[in-house]
Amino acid sequence: FVEQFIEIPRNSSTISNGNAHEHNQDETNHTVNGGGSGIGLEITRQLGLHGCKVAVMGRRADVLKSAVDSLSSEGITAIATPGDVRSNDDAVRAVQQTVEKYGQLDILVNSAAGNFLSAAEDLSPKGFRTVMEIDAIGVFTMCHATFSELRKSNNANIINISANLQYPATWYQVHASAAKAAIDSITRSLALEWGEYKIRVNGIVPGLISGTPGFTKLGGDILDTNLLTETSPLGRPGEKHEVAMGVVYLCSTAGSFITGHIMFIDGGNWLMKPKL
Ligand code: HXC
Repeated sequence: FVEQFIEIPRNSSTISNGNAHEHNQDETNHTVNGGGSGIGLEITRQLGLHGCKVAVMGRRADVLKSAVDSLSSEGITAIATPGDVRSNDDAVRAVQQTVEKYGQLDILVNSAAGNFLSAAEDLSPKGFRTVMEIDAIGVFTMCHATFSELRKSNNANIINISANLQYPATWYQVHASAAKAAIDSITRSLALEWGEYKIRVNGIVPGLISGTPGFTKLGGDILDTNLLTETSPLGRPGEKHEVAMGVVYLCSTAGSFITGHIMFIDGGNWLMKPKL
């Protein structure tokens, strides 16, 4: 799993007056994002293509290098900030590196995740704890580490990526479902508490998304397409850019009155209504 930082300069006719809590749209926004691969990388890419400067955080140096090289080749300003979201020290260091490089931090997107399929009776408590630590505690750790910078911003946003696994339940996903449910809860709690600091906190709930580690790990490659059609109104897996567009929308001024919202981007899969 990986975590990324992103900076967004916005094009606008409005001139910034430098007041940290006024919404001047030509301020340069610096974003933290989760994921140097899969959905997270596409979110980073799309925010970059919309004017962000980005920093990518993660455990694996080769993944970070590959992400930064790929983003740079598209003209996106990107740096790597190595670290593990389970470590508070790593989170604090990554925020410091980003602020040293870009001067400020405006948006955090948490998409770091760890997962595997396991029947509950075969899953060790340590396995359960590991996924909770990466997904749920990692989200809080990153939110906590960025708070003091975000509250200085005039366009502060946190986006937490969860999944629709816990709506209502998913086979062999007791650990990830619990962690994703916790993430959605953290989203609502922080939206409530940090609204007074003008920090918007929203969640995105992807379903099965093609070309991601989650798709492969959770059996997407061998999924019966008929089953998907029966359990999903749109009858297909999603595309990474369809998730990324939700992030762009929520972080932009188009989403300026939205906080505490959990946006499903899963083709309606969570509704799970069999045809009569
Ligand atoms: C059962 C397993 C297991 C498996 C690990 N464990 N893999 N148990 N089945 N396949 C158990 C181990 O046995 C161990 O417990 C404990 O978990 C910790 O394992 P480690 O390997 O030491 O952990 P670590 O090296 O930190 O690796 C974390 C990880 C790993 C989650 C296990 O897979 C990882 O880092 N993955 C990162 C990438 C990733 O998973 N991306 C997919 C995200 S998909 P014991 O007791 O045995 O010591 C996603 C869902 C989207 O988010 C949903 C869409 C609908």
